Amino acid sequence: MNPFLIQIPFFPEQASSFAFEIDLFYLFLFALTGFFTVLIGVAAVYFLIKYRRRSPSEVPEQIEGHLKLEIAWTVIPFVISMFIFAWGAKLYYQMYTPPTDALEIFITGKQWMWRAQHPDGQREINELHVPLGRRVKLTMTSEDVIHAYFIPAFRTKTDVVPGRYTTSWFTPTKTGTYHLFCAEYCGTQHSGMIGKVIVMEPPDYQAWLRNVPRDKSPAEAGAQLFTSQACDKCHLEDGAGRGPSLQNLFGKDVKLANGGVVKADETYLRESILNPGAKVVAGYSNDMPTFQGLVTEEQVAMIIQYIKSIGPKQGAESTTTPAPSSAAPAPAAQGVKAVPQAANPAAPQREQPRQD
Ligand code: CUA
Repeated sequence: MNPFLIQIPFFPEQASSFAFEIDLFYLFLFALTGFFTVLIGVAAVYFLIKYRRRSPSEVPEQIEGHLKLEIAWTVIPFVISMFIFAWGAKLYYQMYTPPTDALEIFITGKQWMWRAQHPDGQREINELHVPLGRRVKLTMTSEDVIHAYFIPAFRTKTDVVPGRYTTSWFTPTKTGTYHLFCAEYCGTQHSGMIGKVIVMEPPDYQAWLRNVPRDKSPAEAGAQLFTSQACDKCHLEDGAGRGPSLQNLFGKDVKLANGGVVKADETYLRESILNPGAKVVAGYSNDMPTFQGLVTEEQVAMIIQYIKSIGPKQGAESTTTPAPSSAAPAPAAQGVKAVPQAANPAAPQREQPRQD
């Protein structure tokens, strides 16, 4: 991937497209710090000797201000720190902007294990198999406390936080088995929350996928949950139900009852499942009960995968907002009124298809 392939001793292997530049950046900071440490140290010793007091009655010459010197020691550090900032910001931006064409793997952290689910439904625990040379995006959340998904050989470390999705991405550049660590203290067995990342040649990865017993794909499982949790009773395809239609929703901007606009991404969909009153769609009232405690984080992710699967293809930009339904008119001026859950005739039957 990189033309130099410099392997710095004592560093973990460089096995992702980020690794080389991050090492280079780190090395630059290290060299810069070393250079100024030596420069200042040597100058201090030199001046100490050169300007030592030679006789007890000696009175040193008083120097007041030196404009050129002051400009130099202001401008030089400014330029250096701006260079560090620009380079660091560029790297940060690259690492935290996942490409849209990446292979998406869903990660759940839980005291004290890592679960992964591949796009076709293959699951694994404390291991992550990825194909060489392919961009891989991890969408991550936690069932309990904050963890952090750390793959030293890839130079990626991202917090995995309960209540929200975080993402990480990388392109593996070298086949092999690498360490996976939890890098956030998360309880007594934190140090045991480790695993392996296995980078395989694409044909081997395909073969691996075929050999792993798989249940339904997340989207298929999500479609089933969509029915079993009775989401389909209100979110009718034509938008004539009590809730807005979810067809072609993913990735688009949604007009809200409070006048705001939100992008229908994973975070918004998750919030709307667990805390439906937070962002009510314009034209609808706050009728939906929460599904907090009724579905696990993995099931929420499955429902989101299903909504994605009935949405426009990823990367397609559009700003259409769903048309307000005529069946559930709610004058915008009146604001959002909460309807008690008991009064909701279409309240879902609360089955709990737990999977673990
Ligand atoms: Cu999970 Cu530390």
